[in-house]
Amino acid sequence: MKGCPNGRPFSLHLIKEKNMSLLLNRSVFGNPANTGNVLSREEAMQLLNDWVKNERLQLHMKQVAHLMKCWAAEKEGFDEAAQWRWEMAGLLHDADWDQWPDLHCKKIIEELEARNIDPEIIRAIASHGPNHFGVEPETKMDKMLFAFDELSGLIHAYSLMRPEGYTGMELKGVKKRLKEKSFAANVNREEIADAMNRAGVELDVIIQFIIERQQM
Ligand SMILES: [Fe+2]
Repeated sequence: MKGCPNGRPFSLHLIKEKNMSLLLNRSVFGNPANTGNVLSREEAMQLLNDWVKNERLQLHMKQVAHLMKCWAAEKEGFDEAAQWRWEMAGLLHDADWDQWPDLHCKKIIEELEARNIDPEIIRAIASHGPNHFGVEPETKMDKMLFAFDELSGLIHAYSLMRPEGYTGMELKGVKKRLKEKSFAANVNREEIADAMNRAGVELDVIIQFIIERQQM
């Protein structure tokens, strides 16, 4: 189901059909001694390009990364180092989906642990699908990654069906699509509601933020 034209660029149907479990069965990620360790932008892009050949998935990861960076800067007021940690979590959160869907997101977690990356980033990736990986989002970074992941793809799919793309897109249009079960049918509406509750941010605020920032 990879490359699904609607909503998320991938679907977990494959995993469900094969009755595979993505549960991580872990609650501690990375080593606190590595706090502050990050990949350079070049290293992160290299990993993305080496692991992810699916262009649609790459675009999704870059869009989520951009949203994470913008949110960290504008809403949280974080410095550039923290902004990059948020961005890096977004950029690599689905890095292993393209080649190792049955190991999603074990593979990328192990890679980042082997590279001694900040546990904050690894934990955010591990908790971006609590209903699949069994890891609860705890930090604001965790929660926003889950929230953006759910909505970014659906809004991008909406932009693709509009002749004007993102130009003139309105909150009410997105909400209308959300209510249509047939639109981006693989985006689970209950998970969106769950993600918003956890993030403690109004759905309207996040949708408006994505509309404005996702025009790349
Ligand atoms: Fe994603």
